[in-house]
Amino acid sequence: MPLLTPWCRSMGMDVPIVNAPMGGAAGGRLAAAVSRAGGLGMVGMGSAGTAEQLTTQLRELSDLERPFGIGLVHWVTRREPRLLETALAARPALLSVSFGDDFEWVARAHDAGVTTATQVGTTEAAHRGVDAGVDVLVARGAEGGGHGEPRVGTLPLLTEVLDRVEVPVLAAGGIASGRGLAAVLAAGASAAWLGTVFAACPEALTPPASRAALLSAEAEATALTREFDIAGGYPWPEHLPERVLTDDAGRPTPVNAGQSVGMVAGAVPAADLIARMCGDAEALLRRWVSAEGAG
Ligand SMILES: Cc1cc2nc3c(=O)[nH]c(=O)nc-3n(C[C@H](O)[C@H](O)[C@H](O)COP(=O)(O)O)c2cc1C
Repeated sequence: MPLLTPWCRSMGMDVPIVNAPMGGAAGGRLAAAVSRAGGLGMVGMGSAGTAEQLTTQLRELSDLERPFGIGLVHWVTRREPRLLETALAARPALLSVSFGDDFEWVARAHDAGVTTATQVGTTEAAHRGVDAGVDVLVARGAEGGGHGEPRVGTLPLLTEVLDRVEVPVLAAGGIASGRGLAAVLAAGASAAWLGTVFAACPEALTPPASRAALLSAEAEATALTREFDIAGGYPWPEHLPERVLTDDAGRPTPVNAGQSVGMVAGAVPAADLIARMCGDAEALLRRWVSAEGAG
């Protein structure tokens, strides 16, 4: 029972896993490893992203014969227009631009033959994305790491968005094991979009101290903050704080992580992580194929 959804097939993927485009973590090496393992590897440019950095990371994909994606932050593409141009010129299978309400980029991506995605945190945002012509929505729940609109948890958000829209919906926020993957696929998600768990992989750009912090943190050790965006002078809108790790005293640290961080137990290579998650999810879902196996 391969865990393939129609959307994954249409994208040329072999497993229903997308690595979240994470600035400072999801560079070309991680994206290449995820795509080679059958998922969709995404290169992410965050608050400090530039066209030059994107070009450097894309070099890691030069001999990749698999689909890959690129993820950008909306206000950064406004500040640095060459980011969008560079992204489209690389002909990704998927372009995601998140955290903005202006969807002018969608037509430009479609003109270039590129499928579009955006992360949404509410059903209103989901409708806005669909009305703007976005092809795929990422229902990103409040438990997710990094920036996002922390209004609704992943399961209620995902299920409501799936009920309301016709486009494929990916699930994000708090998914880091076969159990979470099985749950969102069973609910109807077209794939899972995983951040925190991939940030700990050896292929990620995550600095060693941050990786060590991810590996040792418990699920409760995260908080929402705007502290570092304000200190860095980044114009993130007020309704989009970031979820970060906290220190022993409960204060925010500048390491992005979601509530799935307690499940991140080792710096496992991306291909091994994907194989393990898919194997576990498949075993769980298979139990329901025959009634006597369930339980
Ligand atoms: C280290 C890290 C960096 C992130 N950077 C970005 C980013 O640059 N752009 C973006 O759209 N989302 C970013 N995110 C959010 C992810 O796209 C996604 O919403 C989130 O990771 C999903 O939840 P999870 O971390 O529980 O898997 C980041 C997340 C993490 C953990």
